[in-house]
Amino acid sequence: MEVRPDQFKIMLTMPVTVITTVNSEGSSNAAPYGCVMPILRPLDLIAVASALPRDTLRNIRDNGQFVVNVMGKPGFESAMRTAKNYPPEVSELEAEGIETIPSKKVDPPRISEAIGWIEAVLDQEVTGDNYALTIGRVLCAELNDMYLKGKHLTEPPAVLLNPDYRIVGDSIGDARRTMKLFLGDSKKLS
Ligand SMILES: Cc1cc2nc3c(=O)[nH]c(=O)nc-3n(C[C@H](O)[C@H](O)[C@H](O)COP(=O)(O)O)c2cc1C
Repeated sequence: MEVRPDQFKIMLTMPVTVITTVNSEGSSNAAPYGCVMPILRPLDLIAVASALPRDTLRNIRDNGQFVVNVMGKPGFESAMRTAKNYPPEVSELEAEGIETIPSKKVDPPRISEAIGWIEAVLDQEVTGDNYALTIGRVLCAELNDMYLKGKHLTEPPAVLLNPDYRIVGDSIGDARRTMKLFLGDSKKLS
């Protein structure tokens, strides 16, 4: 069955991440990003796709630094609130009371409740008419000890599996429930 490209998005999982950056005044910024992918292995480079405009993108262009905070279920809901459209000078992290810790190699902070962090610096940008692909060089990748039992993560990363993630509320990040919701409902694909 041929489907529209936006319907096919269900087939391509995206991680639920929040990208943290700082602006030229040193104020932090945070925004959920699903269009995040490693560029091959090992994870030397990471790519992030931004619609235009984005404060996140402007900050990365200004100082070349960002942190990809990989979210699991804990901290997920509060992290999603960073999607609200705050003015550039307002820190979403402060406005939403999201706890942070300092990063090791870059200025933008880490979200304390994330299950892992990737600290990166700008390598290059590919710019389209209505998007920008930021390619970052990974300086530090770390799993949050809070979710480690031995060498195993106790929390899986959350993923987006559906084209309507903005409207599915609770089911966001729950891969099995989301699959059932969309694959079980043929109207969504017709
Ligand atoms: C789950 C989720 C994933 C998102 N993924 C992206 C993304 O990959 N790229 C993007 O440009 N915007 C994405 N957005 C929208 C931005 O997070 C949102 O527009 C945000 O307000 C941008 O903030 P900023 O202007 O501070 O960067 C996503 C939103 C949500 C809720």
